[in-house]
This record gives sequence, structure tokens and C-alpha cells, in this order.
Amino acid sequence: MSQAFPALARPQVRQLRSSLIREVANAGLGLPDVLAFWFGESDQPTPAFIRERAARALTDGRTFYTHNLGRPDLRATLAAYLSDLHGTPIGAERLAVTSSGVSALMIAAQALVEPGDKVAVVTPVWPNVAEIPRILGAQVTPVSLEPRNGRWSLDLDRLIDTLTPDTRVLFLNSPNNPTGWTLAVDDRQAILDHCRKHGIWLLADDVYERLSFSPARSAPSFLPLADPRDRLVSTNSFSKAWRMTGWRLGWMVAPAELVEALGVLLEYNTSCAPDFVQEGAVAALTEGEPHVTALRADLGAARDQVLAGLRALPGVEAPEPEGGMYAFFRLAGCEDSLTLAKALVTEAGLGLAPGAAFGEEGEGWLRWCFAARPEKNAAGLERLARYLCAR
Ligand SMILES: Cc1ncc(COP(=O)(O)O)c(C=O)c1O
Repeated sequence: MSQAFPALARPQVRQLRSSLIREVANAGLGLPDVLAFWFGESDQPTPAFIRERAARALTDGRTFYTHNLGRPDLRATLAAYLSDLHGTPIGAERLAVTSSGVSALMIAAQALVEPGDKVAVVTPVWPNVAEIPRILGAQVTPVSLEPRNGRWSLDLDRLIDTLTPDTRVLFLNSPNNPTGWTLAVDDRQAILDHCRKHGIWLLADDVYERLSFSPARSAPSFLPLADPRDRLVSTNSFSKAWRMTGWRLGWMVAPAELVEALGVLLEYNTSCAPDFVQEGAVAALTEGEPHVTALRADLGAARDQVLAGLRALPGVEAPEPEGGMYAFFRLAGCEDSLTLAKALVTEAGLGLAPGAAFGEEGEGWLRWCFAARPEKNAAGLERLARYLCAR
């Protein structure tokens, strides 16, 4: 849209790039046989117990507006779930239910970011995390992760040096999309202390916290360390852990003092999440643990399968993801990930996301969403092997 009406949109909107993942997916439109691993979602639908509960609510006529901050019973259920998961009391007064994880990010940013603010973002990262502060007129400074010894790692000193006292917000997504990098338990306190010292808001995008490949129920989170009044907002979603991408439901944990303002912003963004969707979420939280456990096991097996397959190919570097649902890897000599991703679609029938979609730091890399059945991942690996042989 910004290209069609270049002079009409605000400058911050005109400079937004359209999604490079979509650009690759569009190159595959109409092709008869493409195995797609480009989007960040499972190839399986939402578990039946969640769909059935929401369908009942819909049949019962639960089709009206509800509370801005989410239905009180959902907020209470969420408070109990999060308190148990993180081993620390998280009261409903700190919660806001949103229409998706991305909407939680946008609303949190609307509450905190002013034009001209300096914002730091750990990259490469899912494009929305960096573009949302840009839409609001912030100056975004990337702090890039690096592949080291077969894993992605964060240079803590560099991050701390970047977080100067005039920084307004640090956006940090862990486990990270696209790399699978996961914040180290021991790095949390230093980041929190530094943000506290300078009054910097910490915006933790925790949508993959349940999808960690360690035995712990959650990836390391700031929530158990933080005081309820700390300048911390944790955004989250039902999309990934409960395979509810199409439902558009998320939440955030924030200081109680901010929640009233979030409610007002919710009114002006989406007003409220649909009642029957929230009913499905109650089922996800109260009956969903066996599903989440099984999903984690499936994703762990898929990660091992895809990583082993990639590492067996000549010239492939594939650091090990510690969480999430993606392998972020590169082929020797690839400097233009968009061109390569398009060639893979048209010449090999393989749909991957180009690393450049995740910021300059992702250029040269490709992302494979392995939340797919083993046969599909295996067929994709075969296509990549054939393509590399023929090159
Ligand atoms: C890092 C990250 N944050 C947030 C989201 C938002 O998820 P949703 O808007 O589906 O809740 C995604 C989705 O891919 C993501 O990868």
C-alpha cells in the first residue's frame, strides 16, 4: 500500500519494507509442487479440545463485545497459569489480553515509545519486532547475535554498552525467531539491573517461551526475577504453544500501574478479543499441558532431524537452535538470501524464508520452520540436497 500511494502515508510508514517472506511465497504462487517451510506455524490445526470449546461458545451465541483487558475469568486463569509456570505470583491486575502477540507488541510500544526515542533491538529478529518501534518514529539500534561454536550467542558487554542512559526500550525476543537463540539464565540479572539503573523499559517478546529444547517448562524469563513494578513488559501469544495462529489471541504482563493505560489503548486498537476465542484460550490453559508436552517432544525430534539433515550437506552451516521452531542456516557463498530463496522455490520446489527478512544481520542466511511432519521435513531435505548437487 505504501508503494501504491507513496506520498500519502507518513514518512515512517513509507520507509517500511513489505515482507520478504511474502515476496518469496508470492514467487511460489501457482507453482504445482512447492514444499513450504516459510511461515512460522505448524502444519497441524489447533488441538480438537480447544476448537470444540470455542465452537460451543459460538453456538451458544457468545458473539458480543467483551472487556478491553480480556474476560476476567481468562485473566484469572492466565494469572494462575503464569504464576505456576514461573514460580512467582503474577496477579490478574498485571495482565492484558490482546488480539494476537503482534498486537501486544504494538500496544506496548504505543504505550512506551515516542517519536525520536532510542530503542535497542536484539537481531536478527522477526521483522515486526523492529518495524513496530519504527512505525512509531523511534530510532532503532540493532544489537546482533553471532554464531559461535555451533550456537547463536549474545555478546552481553556489547548489549550493555548499547543500552546508554538515553535508551527508552530494549526489545528482546527469546527464544528468538529466526535463530533459536535463547537468553542464558545468567545473563538475565545483568540486563535487568542495567535497565533498572537507567530506567530503560525491557520489552520481552516471550511467544516461544514454552518451545524450549531444555527440560525446563519455560525458557529463561525475566518474570521470576523482576519486581512487579519493574519497567518490564512481557508479550506473549496463544499462537505457537497451542497451535492457535489463526485465532489471533495474545497477552501481556506489565506493571499494574500501566495496565489501565493499556486498556485504553486496547479500546482504540481492537476494543476487545472475541468472546468465543477467549473461551478456547481458557481450554488451552486449563487442559493444554499434555498437548504442550507432546508438541515440545515433536519439535525437539523435528529439530534433530532437520539439523542433522542440513549438517550432512556440503557447505551448510547450521547452528543449533535452543528453542522455537526454526533452523537458521547458511550455504557457503550465499550473499543474497532473497535471490537464493526464490531460486529454491522455482528450481527445487522448496519454500524457505530469506534471512534478509529478519534484518541486515540475517542476510546470507535462510530460515526453515521445522514444525512439520517428519515426512515433509525429510522430503524438503532431499530437495535441498538435490539442488545443491545440481548447482
Ligand atoms: C518473535 C515473534 N513474536 C510475536 C509473534 C506474534 O505471534 P501472533 O501475532 O501470531 O500472536 C511471532 C509470530 O511469528 C513471532 O515470531
